[in-house]
Amino acid sequence: MRIGVLISGRGSNLKALIEACEEPGFRGRIALVISNRPGAGGLAVAEAAGIPTLVIDHKEFSTRETFDAELDRALVNAGVELVCNAGFMRILTDGFVDKWRDRQLNIHPSLLPAFKGLHVHQRALDAGVKITGCTVHFVRPEMDEGPIVAQAAVPVLPGDNAETLAARILEAEHKLYPLALKLVVEGRARVVGEHVVLDHDGEAVTGSLFVPAEK
Ligand code: GRF
Repeated sequence: MRIGVLISGRGSNLKALIEACEEPGFRGRIALVISNRPGAGGLAVAEAAGIPTLVIDHKEFSTRETFDAELDRALVNAGVELVCNAGFMRILTDGFVDKWRDRQLNIHPSLLPAFKGLHVHQRALDAGVKITGCTVHFVRPEMDEGPIVAQAAVPVLPGDNAETLAARILEAEHKLYPLALKLVVEGRARVVGEHVVLDHDGEAVTGSLFVPAEK
């Protein structure tokens, strides 16, 4: 399966996906990495792995529609079958999201549906939750919504601040996204209705994969 990855920043999740695709027998490979920011660190990560990159700078487009049309054109030209958002910080139009429906994944650093949007770690601390985590889900037009493929739980520890919590969650992200991608490329995580059905050794089970917090 040919994968296109959308990034805006440092690309640590992209790196985790690249490493997963390099595993023997992995049934997907990254055909193209697109950044909407010219200086994104993730571009160098992709280049170091020999993966084609493209900058589509949103500032050069007057509307979201024209930006998204260019994004779509580039993905289609590269033969991309599955899009992975990995720290991609642009809101996509409904038209783009609908076109890639059930063929676009996102990772979000909370246990959705809690803490959608931005400043997630500080909001989790402010709310006083003891468990947070990360979620990989299929993309829908509403931000940070869509059928959940997998979630990992991460504890909030005494003395945490937004930075320490973000770092702990990021480690979990780097394990979870490759795991979820593997399920999707192997056809073992499918959307049925608005839920993901997982294939466990040939048996279909409704519900996402859950990775408990590490001791
Ligand atoms: C990650 O925390 C991801 O969940 C969020 O943005 C961050 C991107 O980090 N959407 P990176 O660019 O993958 O290092």
